[in-house]
Amino acid sequence: MHGRGIKAVKVCTLSFVAIFIILGIYAFSANNWTIGSAEAAGSCVTSTCHSTMGKGKFVHGPAAVGQCDACHIQQGSRGQHPKFAPITNSAELCYKCHDRLDVKQGVHSPVKAGNCTLCHDAHQSSYKFMLRGDGQSLCFKCHDKKIAGGKFVHGPVAVGGCAMCHNPHQTDYPKMLNAVGNDVCYICHTDKAQSFQNKKFAHKPVKEKCINCHSPHSGDYKFNFSQEGSRDLCYTCHKDKKDWIESVKVKHGGLETDKKCLACHDPHVSDYVKQLTREPADSCNLCHNKQLTKTINMQEYLEKNKNYHGPIQQKDCSGCHNTHGSDNFRILRKYYPPVFYAPFDIKNYELCFNCHEKTLVIDAKTKTLTGFRNGEQNLHFVHVNKVDKGRTCRACHDAHATNNPKHIRNAVPFGAWGLPVGFSKTAGGGSCLPGCHQKFEYNRDNPVRNR
Ligand code: HEC
Ligand code: HEC
Ligand code: HEC
Ligand code: HEC
Ligand code: HEC
Ligand code: HEC
Ligand code: HEC
Ligand code: HEC
Ligand code: HEC
Ligand code: HEC
Ligand code: HEC
Ligand code: HEC
Ligand code: HEC
Repeated sequence: MHGRGIKAVKVCTLSFVAIFIILGIYAFSANNWTIGSAEAAGSCVTSTCHSTMGKGKFVHGPAAVGQCDACHIQQGSRGQHPKFAPITNSAELCYKCHDRLDVKQGVHSPVKAGNCTLCHDAHQSSYKFMLRGDGQSLCFKCHDKKIAGGKFVHGPVAVGGCAMCHNPHQTDYPKMLNAVGNDVCYICHTDKAQSFQNKKFAHKPVKEKCINCHSPHSGDYKFNFSQEGSRDLCYTCHKDKKDWIESVKVKHGGLETDKKCLACHDPHVSDYVKQLTREPADSCNLCHNKQLTKTINMQEYLEKNKNYHGPIQQKDCSGCHNTHGSDNFRILRKYYPPVFYAPFDIKNYELCFNCHEKTLVIDAKTKTLTGFRNGEQNLHFVHVNKVDKGRTCRACHDAHATNNPKHIRNAVPFGAWGLPVGFSKTAGGGSCLPGCHQKFEYNRDNPVRNR
């Protein structure tokens, strides 16, 4: 960026140095004005006149070599101080030696208006490029400094590096930026540019623009957010989640850790669906790898019980649980009775019948619906479909896994007792010796007469 115009400037320098020498000789010999010692020196800069000129920290090329008349046309008559011609449009003056800075699509307002000297001193200043202020202070002469006023200020803004992102003169991009969209951020965050690119999924607002979430300048929350970043920020767009999470009866403790939403989700990119930081089921193990106040160590349970229920095989905990909470016991997506006995109502088993056929417990006789039958007698119907003391599925099955076939449990909590189920499978059926009754057998092909 800084290289622009240098070639032209060099050419100008040479020609002006030449002109200066010629004019200098002319001025000296013609001696056509007479005041003080300036006359003697033939220069505008003497110990009494314009004495500070050229002494600034950063001096403009032509001013440094006393080439005042590169810009000023001396006016006035003999014997008087030659007045410098008032300069109205400094830009046109500057463009005599510098490349034009108003040719791109977006030209900064003061440049367009030709007011280079609102930012640059034509002669000298204490700041690089003869600027009239450094970093922030220059820009905040005209812009509201509120943008850098948040509690957390972005690195380059804090050090006044406005020009790292904005071109002070002209640009082909909106908002005077040096690049478009996320490329503005990737000017410096090259690590992110790389790591974001190699991921399978990108959060939609990240793909769109970083500044959907991060202020480029400052914010009242860490990472220059306008909201607390691990949840409130998410809620600004995911309002439906906020409404859901706040309204459900059974809250998930997983949402309430320090990391809030970020316990499971990556805000930027991910190799897993739904912005999760790992496989969905593995993300549960982040916390359920130990016993919590009212829940067992599920990871350990699943390591010990090898015969996984279908969705567990597919690592799909969300088939049954709503991680963001629900109105049902154990944050289940659908109702499932937390009890051993329940009067039969098909609605009690919405959870299971979300995936399995209801007829399993509706038809008293069947040859096909279930393997849990004695001849044609549907034993699911027998146990479950009772007006008052219907056995719920949990009386026999575990929803996650067991070491028995068909996810039959060893024992089921019955009050304070672990009531044994005592199931064993046989060729054409099975038998149970539960805590409820004596040993019963069933056989699908040759019905057994239990007594
Ligand atoms: C690159 C162009 C340029 C050169 C070279 C230049 N000036 Fe100026 N000068 C200006 C402009 C433009 C102004 C009008 C003030 C402004 O807009 O900042 C100005 C204003 C002045 C003023 C009026 C007071 C002030 O500072 O505003 C004086 C005095 C002056 N110049 C002296 C000099 C002297 C002496 C030299 C040579 C050492 C010189 N200038 C060289 C552009 C130049
Ligand atoms: C007479 C020719 C001439 C005019 C007119 C002129 N400049 Fe320059 N300018 C130069 C030269 C020569 C340099 C020194 C270039 C270098 O150091 O490479 C320079 C340097 C600069 C620099 C510093 C660039 C750097 O890389 O350090 C700025 C900023 C600048 N000029 C702004 C202006 C502005 C603003 C005007 C109009 C008010 C203007 N110039 C008018 C000749 C001119
Ligand atoms: C809004 C303030 C502002 C205005 C107006 C402005 N400049 Fe600049 N200019 C800057 C800043 C800031 C820099 C330093 C850029 C950087 O740090 O990269 C700069 C740098 C320069 C440079 C040296 C580096 C470069 O980009 O080549 C030149 C030459 C220059 N300006 C000329 C001009 C001229 C000519 C005008 C009028 C047409 C002008 N500027 C108007 C703020 C301004
Ligand atoms: C002399 C006054 C002045 C200075 C100094 C100045 N600007 Fe500006 N700037 C303006 C004006 C006037 C506008 C146009 C106003 C608008 O569109 O809101 C503008 C517009 C902008 C815009 C575009 C705003 C938009 O909404 O499109 C940006 C970005 C900007 N300036 C950044 C800077 C930066 C960075 C600096 C310091 C290097 C700076 N300005 C210094 C006067 C100034
Ligand atoms: C990290 C890059 C970056 C830095 C550094 C930066 N800006 Fe910006 N600025 C942006 C982006 C991106 C936008 C566009 C915001 C948008 O489109 O909503 C912007 C917008 C602006 C605007 C337009 C008004 C607005 O808020 O949309 C102004 C004025 C502005 N910046 C001034 C500054 C000033 C002054 C500085 C230095 C104190 C600065 N910027 C530093 C990236 C930056
Ligand atoms: C000019 C270089 C530069 C540009 C361009 C830039 N940044 Fe930064 N950014 C930094 C620096 C330097 C830090 C401070 C790093 C640190 O403290 O570890 C930083 C820090 C951050 C942080 C906070 C990190 C932390 O640990 O506190 C975020 C978020 C951020 N930048 C986002 C952005 C976004 C979004 C953009 C594009 C609008 C952007 N940056 C453009 C240089 C830049
Ligand atoms: C949906 C909102 C959102 C968007 C869009 C977003 N971020 Fe972030 N970003 C966050 C959150 C939330 C954090 C805090 C992460 C944490 O606490 O672990 C963060 C942290 C950061 C950090 C600092 C911590 C780190 O991971 O190094 C940087 C740098 C960063 N983001 C850069 C970017 C860039 C670059 C973009 C655009 C490509 C971007 N962000 C887009 C939400 C967002
Ligand atoms: C600026 C708005 C915005 C913010 C802030 C935001 N998101 Fe998103 N998010 C979206 C949009 C848009 C989608 C895409 C929705 C769609 O495709 O239907 C999305 C999608 C998602 C998805 C689903 C991704 C998928 O692959 O289906 C998750 C998970 C998500 N966001 C989590 C978060 C979290 C966590 C936060 C807070 C750190 C957050 N979002 C902040 C706008 C936002
Ligand atoms: C304990 C882990 C965990 C936490 C914490 C968490 N989520 Fe999720 N989130 C998930 C899982 C798992 C999915 C995928 C659910 C699915 O496939 O149905 C998901 C999906 C999403 C989706 C995609 C839409 C959907 O429902 O499938 C959004 C949006 C979302 N989460 C936002 C959030 C927000 C906002 C927060 C913080 C309030 C948050 N999540 C906290 C685990 C979590
Ligand atoms: C960030 C930690 C964390 C993650 C990740 C997490 N949980 Fe939890 N979960 C908890 C905490 C804490 C509780 C409350 C447990 C307690 O008090 O005993 C809980 C409770 C539960 C409960 C019982 C709810 C109740 O109140 O009865 C279920 C079911 C559950 N989690 C399932 C899941 C599933 C499925 C996943 C993965 C999608 C998951 N959890 C991921 C922390 C987490
Ligand atoms: C087929 C439906 C289903 C699937 C799939 C499922 N769960 Fe469950 N989960 C349940 C039911 C039903 C309960 C309540 C069990 C009970 O109380 O008998 C439960 C209870 C829990 C509990 C509390 C256990 C306790 O009693 O302490 C945790 C933790 C849990 N599930 C985690 C998971 C995790 C992790 C996954 C995925 C690996 C998962 N669940 C998959 C249905 C399911
Ligand atoms: C998210 C879908 C889903 C839900 C909800 C669900 N299941 Fe399953 N279930 C399956 C899948 C898939 C299989 C594996 C089917 C296969 O292998 O043919 C299966 C298999 C079974 C089996 C063993 C079948 C076999 O032949 O080995 C039993 C028993 C079972 N489920 C009981 C239940 C109970 C009880 C519930 C309610 C707590 C339930 N299921 C809820 C999807 C589900
Ligand atoms: C009294 C114990 C008991 C109860 C209560 C029970 N089941 Fe079963 N279930 C079994 C047995 C035993 C099998 C294995 C049948 C076989 O293959 O020999 C079975 C098998 C299944 C199967 C595998 C397919 C099939 O029917 O053979 C599914 C699915 C199933 N049960 C779902 C449920 C659902 C849903 C509930 C609750 C509505 C439930 N069970 C209640 C004992 C029970």
